[in-house]
Amino acid sequence: KKLAVFVSGGGSNFRALHEACLQNRIFGDCVLVVSDKPDCKACDYAEGNNIPVAQYPYNKALNSGLSPVELVRTLRQFEVDIVILAGYLKLVPAEVIQSFPRAILNIHPALLPAFGGKGFYGRKVHEAVIKSGARYSGPTVHFVDEKYDHGSIVAQRVVPVLAYDTPEDLAARVLKEEHTIYPEVVAAVCEDRIFWREDGVPLIRRSW
Ligand code: GRF
Repeated sequence: KKLAVFVSGGGSNFRALHEACLQNRIFGDCVLVVSDKPDCKACDYAEGNNIPVAQYPYNKALNSGLSPVELVRTLRQFEVDIVILAGYLKLVPAEVIQSFPRAILNIHPALLPAFGGKGFYGRKVHEAVIKSGARYSGPTVHFVDEKYDHGSIVAQRVVPVLAYDTPEDLAARVLKEEHTIYPEVVAAVCEDRIFWREDGVPLIRRSW
């Protein structure tokens, strides 16, 4: 399957996914990166690996970037099958959501449906988890709909929140799990191992 990875910054999940593709843990190819920022660590990694980078959304100040319709056209040109959001902070336009039904994934660094939605990103998520007194957190992988952090949950992993964790401590513990859970889910999607329960909940069939 052909994958487009949407990024905004660090790109550690993108890297984990790309490495999994190279090692055949995912039967897929990262054919395109989409970034809202023309300069970021994730973009550097893409360029270093000869993966083309497209900019979305259009940025007035830079006078560059695609419109929603152009973004869909670009994804089609690259024959993209699956769209993967990996730290992408902007909303995916309705045009893309409608063009890729059940084929867009996101990873969020907390246990949805808690601690998600607009404003819950980066360090703020972990601050909110610690402040709430929750004893567990962990990444959630979900299919994407038109709202932030809202689509059907496909996989989660649990890590403890320790008594004197800083947001950075918790972020690092969660991110470590992201790097294994995300490639596992993307592998399942690429191998058509997702089954949709009647009520719309996606289930993964193990490959073993
Ligand atoms: C991750 O914590 C992810 O859950 C969230 O944004 C962060 C991206 O990190 N959506 P990276 O860019 O993959 O390093």
